[in-house]
Amino acid sequence: PVSVYPNKDVASVQVAKRIAALIRSKQETGEPAVLGLATGATPVGVYEELVRLHREEGLSFRNVVTFNLDEYFPMPPTAPQSYVTFMNENLFDHIDIQRENIHIPDGTLAVEDVAAFCLNYEQQIEEYGGLDLQVLGIGRTGHVGFNEPGSAPNSGTRLVTLDDLTRRDASRDFGGKENVPTKAITMGIGTIFKAREIILMAWSGKKASIIKKAVEGDVSGEVPATYLQLADNVEFVLDEDAAAELT
Ligand code: F6R
Repeated sequence: PVSVYPNKDVASVQVAKRIAALIRSKQETGEPAVLGLATGATPVGVYEELVRLHREEGLSFRNVVTFNLDEYFPMPPTAPQSYVTFMNENLFDHIDIQRENIHIPDGTLAVEDVAAFCLNYEQQIEEYGGLDLQVLGIGRTGHVGFNEPGSAPNSGTRLVTLDDLTRRDASRDFGGKENVPTKAITMGIGTIFKAREIILMAWSGKKASIIKKAVEGDVSGEVPATYLQLADNVEFVLDEDAAAELT
C-alpha cells in the first residue's frame, strides 16, 4: 500500500510512532525489537522524532537491536561521511540503546575478509529472529540499501559497486564525486525481503519519477525497488511531492 502525507514532517512522525509501538509491544514480551535502519536525508525526521519520544515520553531503546543497511567501502567509522558517524549523530548518541546491540557494516575490513563478514551479518540477523521492521529510503537509480540496478532479488549482504548517479548524488558530502568511494557493503534485496515489515519512505519532487517506476513500473532488476511490489508487508510512505506522478 501507498500512504501519502501532506509533508515529510507529518509522515516522519507517523513512521516514528509505528517504530515506537513496535518497541513497546516487544518490551511487554521481553523480546528484543530488531530494526533495520537506513541513513541519508530521508530518515532524519524519523530519528528526530524517536529522540524526542525518548527524551519527552520515556521511550526506552534498551531492548532494541539495530542492523544498518549499508556502509561505504572503504570507510573509517570516524570519518564525517561514515554511516557510523551519521547514526551516532542522528540517533544513537541521543538514546539509551546498548552499544553492543548496534550493527553497521564494517568499512575498515580487508577485502579478503568481506565475504565472511557479510555471511556473519546475515547470521546475526537470523540469531535475533530476523528483522521486525526494515526502514528504507530510495536512491534515484531505484536502489534500496545500495542494491543498484542489476541486483538479484535473492541477493544477500555483499560488497557492491556504486552506480555513477549514486556517487554524483553523494558528491556534496565528499567535496566532489572523485572522493566518493566506488564501493559499499549492503544488505541484499533478499535480506530486506525477510523483514516482517518494510517501510520505504520518499520525500520531494526529486524522487517523484523513481517512485512512479518503483510503485507502478514493471518488476525488474533495472529498478531494484520494484522488487518490493512482490512483498506483501511493504508500505510506501510518501509526501505529496514524491507521490505527484502516481496515477
Ligand atoms: C542509506 C541507503 C540509501 C538511501 C538512498 C536515499 O542507508 O541505503 O538507499 O536510502 O540513497 O538517500 P537520501 O535519503 O539521502 O535521499
